[in-house]
Amino acid sequence: MIADPHPSGLTLKAAGRDNAAMPSTAPTPLHTLLTHGPLLLQAPMAGSQGSALALAVCQAGGIGALPAAMLAPEALTQELTRLSQGTNRPWNVNFFCHTPPEPDAAREARWRETLAPFYAEAGLDIDAVPAGAGRVPFSHTVADLVEPFRPPIVSFHFGLPAPDLLARVKGWGSVVLSSATTVEEALWLEAHGVDAVIAQGIEAGGHRGMFRTDDLTTQVGTFALLPQIVAAVNVPVIAAGGIADAAGVRAALALGAAGVQVGTAYLCSDEALTSPIHRAALQSEAARHTQLTTLFSGRPARGIVNRLMRELGPLNPAAPAFPTATAAIAPLRAHGEKQGSGDFSPLWSGQNARGCRSAPAADITRELLQGFPAVARHVVIFRATARALDAEYSATAAQLRELALTRFGCLDFVAVTEGDQEVALSYWPDEASIRAWKQHADHLMAQQLGRERWYAGYSVEVAAITRHYHRPAPAQA
Ligand SMILES: Cc1cc2nc3c(=O)[nH]c(=O)nc-3n(C[C@H](O)[C@H](O)[C@H](O)COP(=O)(O)O)c2cc1C
Repeated sequence: MIADPHPSGLTLKAAGRDNAAMPSTAPTPLHTLLTHGPLLLQAPMAGSQGSALALAVCQAGGIGALPAAMLAPEALTQELTRLSQGTNRPWNVNFFCHTPPEPDAAREARWRETLAPFYAEAGLDIDAVPAGAGRVPFSHTVADLVEPFRPPIVSFHFGLPAPDLLARVKGWGSVVLSSATTVEEALWLEAHGVDAVIAQGIEAGGHRGMFRTDDLTTQVGTFALLPQIVAAVNVPVIAAGGIADAAGVRAALALGAAGVQVGTAYLCSDEALTSPIHRAALQSEAARHTQLTTLFSGRPARGIVNRLMRELGPLNPAAPAFPTATAAIAPLRAHGEKQGSGDFSPLWSGQNARGCRSAPAADITRELLQGFPAVARHVVIFRATARALDAEYSATAAQLRELALTRFGCLDFVAVTEGDQEVALSYWPDEASIRAWKQHADHLMAQQLGRERWYAGYSVEVAAITRHYHRPAPAQA
């Protein structure tokens, strides 16, 4: 069987299923996305980062994300402008699509009663706290702001927007992603039109993307969830939760992921907006103790255990529905942080905070990229008409080939000769590797000898590989 042509050589499906995710017809936005390289997505992290982190990740070869759930319209436009002008690489803008709850005065009153002792201790007036929604879901009004930017990727948390709104996003050409925390959610997302599913394991920091259930016993670890979702759906699956280094990336790819989404590992990066209190907690022993809690927003989210979680219980039923729990926590949080304490702050963290280091996001991205297999994206086509080939020629050609393969990341090297015509094809992951090889002293020397002694003439073309398919040779008896 001839494999379906698909760009980039990325593995898009779990073993055992045909490559149905990538039809070989006209390129879709997803095809185009996949030609840009490994699917290393920096997770959108509302409240902890903006376009600076996203751009740094893009510049290092990953896919940066702008979390928009907590951005006012003006800030959203500014951030989208920065991102769209700052990179030619794909980037992602992320929205929540929850249904805002009906106001529930009795529940709100119970919540305030529960928090009253903390207010009294801090000398704050609970009656002065305005009720507030906090986070607004994606809407046509928000889409009006986003549409002119035509983001390469739009991702959603808590399901998908209504069909007409989703059609609008797909209509302007964005690749659409959304998180699934169960197989059933993944199937629902596929049936409703996502281009790829983010399988969010229970290790993940921040909010659980759960939207078809609120039963926490359905929530499982990334490496239990991922292969089940890969086996169930035909769209590519991106693994999220607990992945913090190249080995984690390799493990996710081995289980059939087409890519990964990484959040916690970026929280202490130079470009993140994580507060000093949150950074200190992430880099301390405290980060070994995380729990799902509803106290800070009303939906389960993973954070480092702090005083509020210990004293109220992390899943206290008094917390009102998402996102209304936030309003009454905000003054306690601000007061605590002024005293240098994270007792009332959401210290979001995944279970694997080991990768949290104070470093440029580019360094973290490059380390994660090591987990992806190198894929040939460029080919150097060398064609020559021979004049006089001697023994030194053969030795030099072999040496250059060796140098390319062992020192400069060349992935394959094929040379054929017919009469006085020679063609050499070398395959490379990127142009920087080609340039480095060509600048090596041995290469420059060989070039000079080629011109002076061996070749009547030659040409070099560097071509981008946009598609690849192959028919494997039959196994030898
Ligand atoms: C601080 C923080 C904020 C987050 N905010 C969002 C968000 O705004 N939207 C979203 O889709 N996911 C959000 N997430 C979840 C991530 O998309 C992702 O599932 C998670 O970070 C992956 O697990 P990891 O943190 O172990 O890498 C957030 C995660 C963290 C740690």
